[in-house]
Amino acid sequence: MSKLTVTVPDIGGAENVEIIEINVAVGDSVNADQDLLVLETDKATMEIPCPQAGKILALLVKVGDKVSEGSAILELESSDSADTEQNKAEPAAAAHEPAQTAPVAEINAGAADASATDSSAADSVESLIDLVVPDLGGASEVTVIELCAQPGDNLNADDSLIVLETDKASMDIPAPVSGTLKELLINIGDKVKEGQVYGRLLTQAQQGSAATAQQTSAQQAAVQAASNKAVENAPATTAAAVSAVPVAAVSETTSSAEKTDIHNVYAGPSSRRLARQLGVDLTKVKGTGDRSRITKDDIRDYVKALVKQAESGVAAVTSGSGIPAVPAVDFAQFGEIELQPMSKIKKVTAANMSRNWLNVPHVTQFDEADITDLDAFRASMKAEAERQGVKLTPLPFLIKAAASALTLEPSFNVSLHHDGEHMVQKHYVHIGIACDTPNGLMVPVLRDADKKGIYQIAREASELIEKARNGKLKPNEMQGGCFTISSLGAMGGTGFTPIVNAPEVAIMGVSKAQIKPQWNGKEFVPRNMLPLAVSYDHRAINGADCGRFFTTLVALLSDVRRLIL
Ligand code: COA
Repeated sequence: MSKLTVTVPDIGGAENVEIIEINVAVGDSVNADQDLLVLETDKATMEIPCPQAGKILALLVKVGDKVSEGSAILELESSDSADTEQNKAEPAAAAHEPAQTAPVAEINAGAADASATDSSAADSVESLIDLVVPDLGGASEVTVIELCAQPGDNLNADDSLIVLETDKASMDIPAPVSGTLKELLINIGDKVKEGQVYGRLLTQAQQGSAATAQQTSAQQAAVQAASNKAVENAPATTAAAVSAVPVAAVSETTSSAEKTDIHNVYAGPSSRRLARQLGVDLTKVKGTGDRSRITKDDIRDYVKALVKQAESGVAAVTSGSGIPAVPAVDFAQFGEIELQPMSKIKKVTAANMSRNWLNVPHVTQFDEADITDLDAFRASMKAEAERQGVKLTPLPFLIKAAASALTLEPSFNVSLHHDGEHMVQKHYVHIGIACDTPNGLMVPVLRDADKKGIYQIAREASELIEKARNGKLKPNEMQGGCFTISSLGAMGGTGFTPIVNAPEVAIMGVSKAQIKPQWNGKEFVPRNMLPLAVSYDHRAINGADCGRFFTTLVALLSDVRRLIL
């Protein structure tokens, strides 16, 4: 083991280049070729890899520092025994020296020879084709900002080879045909022109010299055709500086326009590599670097946020079950706005609602209960109830009627077992009460409603509602519900479709009672009709079950004497 100072290698003569990313920290163990830091000129980014494996002893630079060839970057305790000679990092691209000559197409003699002894390769030989910078849409010179492949890489047609950038736009140059990248004749930071040969690709061609020559020139033609086709396909809205370039990859890198293409994002090679390793779609990552460049930390933060969301279930709010997220909108462009923080309850409610909406196949059925008699009875009992300290609204009657209906129609008093093989039939009846509170929607649970009288239910419901509104509910007072009642009766409305509060399988929405004409067989008579909606989980409950449940419930509410039977 020995200590060595890693310095900036030959960076093509660039001076005072800014460090925009440091990818290691003191104490890190690093491998040879692992990215240490990223430098950026005004046009290009380049990675500085570690010359050999070891442990970082000290960082001699920080983000924002300007460095030139020979500047000391860090101190490394080398774990490589033969570490005496090479103590300078080389940029990833520096290994590729431009070739002296580059014939348009040549037969690879070695491969052809090999084909003579290898029967499996008897039908094809390899040919070397030039990779040519395509039509740049009028730009005279553009800078190479990224090398997406290295010599030796096997590429499919359309795999990214290099990324070019003008001062306004970046463009991705893909492989025109599949093959093995033989060499790249350019480095990051180089300027290239249309028609310039920037590399060579080893491709398969038919055997036989005439055939091979034809094949090779056909492939070379394909190179140009692919470029031209890509040029034709480029979007009409491309930047003026580069009006038509391959693969519709042009974007104004400084534009705040929405990113839609992986190649349109502004990110260095190391960030792109990290994104590829983690399977991150860079178009979804917000860049915090200079000119909104996406750094490795941005990618890590994005992944951390996703993991956190997934763990808390909040992911469902934005993109549950793989459903594309609703695009972010800058509302300020439409008028004055103000951002108000969501309460914890609102966030939890949002996550729960999304989860339930996405997971539960909902059906909602509607009915009306004639509560004329119930209301008359309630009015007659009001004074007495008040003497007992009880406010007699329709709610306790609804709770009692729902509890009785659940007992009489037990198909509603179930939950789906998480094993997917069983239903949980409940032999208790706890009713949830959806409650509008200053902090958001809360659902306290009134236990054993089937065993309690109207006064007791009214008293307990009032206490639970008050606790909910004062933020005093204990967790166990919000658990264990079998069925929820959501009453908007005091607010108005003729009907709504409530979302099932899973793992419950049904919920009842109550709207405002109204006097309506009802036919009694002889004449229309005014009756107080209460609109009800029951939403249910169609995996657990069928329409016929709901029909029976509704009939039972409506009968109970229409004649409250039945509640004591
Ligand atoms: N039709 C007509 N009037 C009704 C009614 C109905 N369906 N339900 C209640 N009322 C009347 C009551 O009788 C009372 O009037 P009164 O004092 O003259 O008797 C008045 O409206 C106020 O009732 P309220 O104090 O709100 O009590 P409640 O017991 O009906 O409701 C809650 C309590 C908690 C259900 C209710 O306040 C609440 O928060 N509802 C919101 C539920 C919600 O947000 N759900 C989510 C929807 S997605």
